[in-house]
Amino acid sequence: MPALEAHALTKVYARHGQSTRALDGLDLEIPSGQRFAFLGRNGAGKTTFIKIASTLLLPTAGEVRLFGRDVVHEARAVRAQIGLVPQEGKLFYHLTPREHLREYLRVRGVGRETTEARTVELVEAMGLGPFADTPALRLSGGQQQRALVAMVLATEAPFLFLDEPTLGMDPFARRQVWEVIRRAARRGSTVLLTTHYLDEAEQLSDELAVIEGGRILFRGPSERLKSTLGREVRLQFSGGFSTLELAPFGKVISDRERITLLTTRSAVRELTELALARGVEVTVGPVTLEEAFLELVGRGIEEDES
Ligand SMILES: Nc1ncnc2c1ncn2[C@@H]1O[C@H](COP(=O)(O)OP(=O)(O)OP(=O)(O)O)[C@@H](O)[C@H]1O
Ligand SMILES: [Mg+2]
Repeated sequence: MPALEAHALTKVYARHGQSTRALDGLDLEIPSGQRFAFLGRNGAGKTTFIKIASTLLLPTAGEVRLFGRDVVHEARAVRAQIGLVPQEGKLFYHLTPREHLREYLRVRGVGRETTEARTVELVEAMGLGPFADTPALRLSGGQQQRALVAMVLATEAPFLFLDEPTLGMDPFARRQVWEVIRRAARRGSTVLLTTHYLDEAEQLSDELAVIEGGRILFRGPSERLKSTLGREVRLQFSGGFSTLELAPFGKVISDRERITLLTTRSAVRELTELALARGVEVTVGPVTLEEAFLELVGRGIEEDES
């Protein structure tokens, strides 16, 4: 049985005679124990999906099952199985991170000893030590977000929803979150996260889905999304080439500082030799997930407009 199944999930927000179709007949299955990432532009429908799947919002049509249970009709049983870091969640101002951890586990019915052990573990793993006993109102945005993630991960819930968990975090803190999420998955939790950092999605997920306009444009491992570009290599030139000259070799992206070309392996030798002959600096690397994402979603938007 998959950890999560969504069938024909639709959400229409209607307010003041205006309606927005945030989810449009979305189907999705997430296998148990997987780390799954949602990618998509602002307004694509990621948070709406997470709110429905975590029992916070009712769908307009369709259904979601978590470990076989319907999130609308068996919401109470579902809640016992999940942990959620909401997008832009907030702490209680007068409680410290350590108090948040303890109280949150306590209300979820975790025993005293386990609560203490997990609190110590998460304070350490999320680097909360220096501010674990400072009231939230005196913490920076990133420190508060770290406490929030720690609190939810400490539940060790079988299904974890993490809506932009690393929002506003520095690169060190982000890596701590990655490690804590990996640990949760090794323990057997299924994780559904959203992020606008494509390097993070690549680091963290077994599979990902690209959402646009409330539908899934792509679902699969990040490597497969990159291969949809049909070009494996990115060449970056410090100048010396015109867009017109490079266009036959692939996709050209130029800005004021440099020219980037996404191309096939077979073109690399010819172009680097040419660059060297012209005294132009050239760097060679693999295409990034961000490039594949921009291409895929960009195509989706054009199709919609035509
Ligand atoms: N409470 C609401 N009332 C009306 N419309 C809403 C509401 N929440 C979201 N929407 C609309 O639904 C669509 C999907 O929003 P959603 O928050 O799911 O996007 P998202 O993919 O999470 O975006 P982001 O990356 O910015 O977090 C958007 O068009 C948004 O304007
Ligand atoms: Mg969102």
